[in-house]
Amino acid sequence: MSRAIKMEDLSVVIKGKDVLKNINLSLDKGIFLGIVGPNGGGKTTLVRTVLGLLRPTTGTVSVFGRSPESLLTEDGAFGYLPQQQNIDPNFPATALDIALMGRYRSAGALRWPGKKDREKAVQALSIMGVEELKDSQYSQLSGGQQQRISIARALAGDPKILILDEPSTGIDVVGQEDFYHLLKGLQKKMNLTILMVSHDIGTVTTYVDEIACLNINLYYHGNPLGALNEKVLTSLYGKNVDVLMHTDVCDKCERLRK
Ligand SMILES: Nc1ncnc2c1ncn2[C@@H]1O[C@H](COP(=O)(O)OP(=O)(O)OP(=O)(O)O)[C@@H](O)[C@H]1O
Ligand SMILES: [Mg+2]
Repeated sequence: MSRAIKMEDLSVVIKGKDVLKNINLSLDKGIFLGIVGPNGGGKTTLVRTVLGLLRPTTGTVSVFGRSPESLLTEDGAFGYLPQQQNIDPNFPATALDIALMGRYRSAGALRWPGKKDREKAVQALSIMGVEELKDSQYSQLSGGQQQRISIARALAGDPKILILDEPSTGIDVVGQEDFYHLLKGLQKKMNLTILMVSHDIGTVTTYVDEIACLNINLYYHGNPLGALNEKVLTSLYGKNVDVLMHTDVCDKCERLRK
């Protein structure tokens, strides 16, 4: 069985600076992986190598046993929510138009959306709880509503791998818990492999199957609870770990020790 993702000795150097160093990471199909680490730790860079948007300087990455570049143009391989979205806020488009963008994949495939595309886009909006906004102008919606619609766009193409870079930004706390539940449900129902970058280490560990702790090097990959110890957290956050240890992460560590 080919793995969903396999990285071997992957390094990325940008402008002479090590951004990722000797990453070895294997992920089975159908796993929900959380990626955590400090700002500038290389999380976005890592997911961009998986997507085939950035080539590793040395080492390799394969997705379902193939090169990411070869999958990038394939229908339904990846659903991607970038950290920074390049939707012009003044672009005149409805929520449905945005979700429909998730149905166009291969470069140059200019075609009118068909009935099935519309159905899938509406379905994705409905999964995200924003179906009733489908005819609203995207530019006039709130940040959180826009975020849900962008996630719907990532889902609309029936991806095999869903990659979400800080997806809960702008979503309220109650909505966040619902959202993680929802992802968990989708993972099972659609046999999705999910990569989710998040800063919310406390909450993420509750939902994901595995966690990767990244700060240029990969300090930990495995069971989420195993990441909640001072040694791993210090390698990520240095002395600032004290701040983290006084939050709910700390409660989890306590429970773990018992
Ligand atoms: N195109 C680029 N040009 C120059 N430096 C870059 C570029 N892309 C990434 N970097 C550098 O690589 C490092 C890692 O960036 P990356 O965006 O992967 O971090 P991150 O873990 O996603 O951070 P954050 O939590 O803030 O999103 C940073 O120091 C960044 O400045
Ligand atoms: Mg990032």
